[in-house]
Amino acid sequence: MTHSRTPEHDIHPLFVARWSPRAFAEVEIPEGELLRFFEAARWAPSSYNSQPWRFLYARRGTEHWPTFLDLLMEFNRVWASRAAALVILLSKAHFIPPGKTEPITTGSQSFDAGAAWAQFALQASLSGWHTHAMGGFDRHKARAVLGIPEDYHPETAIAVGKLGDPGLLPEPLRAREAPSSRRPIAELIAEGRFRFRD
Ligand SMILES: Cc1cc2nc3c(=O)[nH]c(=O)nc-3n(C[C@H](O)[C@H](O)[C@H](O)COP(=O)(O)O)c2cc1C
Repeated sequence: MTHSRTPEHDIHPLFVARWSPRAFAEVEIPEGELLRFFEAARWAPSSYNSQPWRFLYARRGTEHWPTFLDLLMEFNRVWASRAAALVILLSKAHFIPPGKTEPITTGSQSFDAGAAWAQFALQASLSGWHTHAMGGFDRHKARAVLGIPEDYHPETAIAVGKLGDPGLLPEPLRAREAPSSRRPIAELIAEGRFRFRD
């Protein structure tokens, strides 16, 4: 692992500018701003153009906020409680292909939803906001409380917010509050045959 956020190759600065903080300022987000991020997500590629992503959201200061906050595991709730919006990203398992009548599954709904999440996060970053995905939330509770049908899988929660004071974080998190690095690209790619060590 290198200790830098400097890319090894020439890429748009957007990709390294996005990172996942935990120190959020307690600000509200205008709905129109959030809609821009969903709009970016909407244009993600997907198998058959099935667009198997759905987003449920709650903004700070609305009636939905406490319900969404309550879905997070405690280790996420301690910091995400200062976010401006909480999103639950769902993937849908089945869809009816054009010209057909029976639903099928592509099996790639999670993969496609991940592409949508990435576009959401990058647009938020471009717009001066930060996002932080959280696998640590109660999926069973989300299904029950938010009325999510069986065919939809709660993939991840996402906190959206403006950068805040890291001093407000509990100590173990405060020390970790910095953009992380990445494995060297040489460990990630191989021309030709598989030759990765892990
Ligand atoms: C699907 C997914 C689940 C994650 N779950 C959590 C989580 O529950 N709590 C948390 O603090 N961070 C979580 N993260 C954030 C990752 O730890 C973070 O994206 C990773 O360390 C890379 O850092 P960066 O996003 O700042 O570049 C999650 C990220 C993803 C994509």
